[in-house]
Amino acid sequence: PDLHPITVTVDGEEHEGVVSSRKLLVHWLRDDLDRRGPKIGCDTGNCGACTVKWDGKLAKSCMILAVQADGSEVDTAASLAAEDGTLNDLQQKFKEHHALQCGYCTSGMLMTATDFLESGEEVSNESVRRALKGNICRCTGYENIVNAVCAAGGADAPLPHGRDTE
Ligand code: FES
Ligand code: FES
Repeated sequence: PDLHPITVTVDGEEHEGVVSSRKLLVHWLRDDLDRRGPKIGCDTGNCGACTVKWDGKLAKSCMILAVQADGSEVDTAASLAAEDGTLNDLQQKFKEHHALQCGYCTSGMLMTATDFLESGEEVSNESVRRALKGNICRCTGYENIVNAVCAAGGADAPLPHGRDTE
């Protein structure tokens, strides 16, 4: 049968699996490992909802076969918060800035934004928008997402209306 053993370090923990050669990494993460951060928004590499880090680089996990990930390291949004569930600074800024509505894009946004903030590039409204251009949100209009990432990067970012007195 078309089945292949794989070993992948996911969010810092080694996982073994047996997958068909056609199985996508996003399906293995979600269905076999119950990592529900990466979402399937398009399955064609266009929306960014499935974004993970693959050996330290951003990757769309709907564009990677699970067998290709054998021997590699994959990080999902589940790696961002502390073990007790305490949000990291970027996640906290998403919360404060109302940067999510349905949440479908959020995991991918967080992974891309994390990579951007770690890159050392100057943080500004323009540079954040450029960094997030491969991630589509159907709900928020982007303003609050961009502001959340700016705030996490130390740049000026207004809080949403009604939260500016907090
Ligand atoms: Fe992978 Fe849309 S589901 S880019
Ligand atoms: Fe719904 Fe972005 S919060 S798609």
